Amino acid sequence: MIAIGSDHGGYELAQKICKHLEEKGLEYKYFGTYNGEKVDYPDIALPVAKSVSCGEAEKGFLICGTGIGMSIAANKVKGIRAAVCTDHFSTKFTRLHNDTNILCLGGRVLGDLFALELVDIFLETEYEGGRHQARLDKIKQIEDEN
Ligand code: RB5
Repeated sequence: MIAIGSDHGGYELAQKICKHLEEKGLEYKYFGTYNGEKVDYPDIALPVAKSVSCGEAEKGFLICGTGIGMSIAANKVKGIRAAVCTDHFSTKFTRLHNDTNILCLGGRVLGDLFALELVDIFLETEYEGGRHQARLDKIKQIEDEN
């Protein structure tokens, strides 16, 4: 299952991503917002991040105006590695090297079709493991000690 959420700045793109996931036959759970009215992005980032961190969801997508606020909030939850990406290369390599489990996108930054390409890259790229694991272990150590 894929967890997805957005604030008002990402609402329209989030609806397109949900439709895209549906067309691909992928199961997802939408955590709001449910209309274009103003909402505080941490209120959406938290349940999506928790769904991923507890294993209910395999991966997540968080969409706000820039993706940045969502990523800051999501990364406060233990076990979350969330990244804002605006290009194909970073999206691919954040999966390969960082094993990111949440992709944050900017609804006011990216065109819809371009964003859907990033969604597909994020879903289809496997973590490489190997030399990258020691680095992720160090991140976990920071998380555990602070
Ligand atoms: C809301 O206006 C905007 O601040 C939010 O969507 C996001 O871009 C924050 O990082």
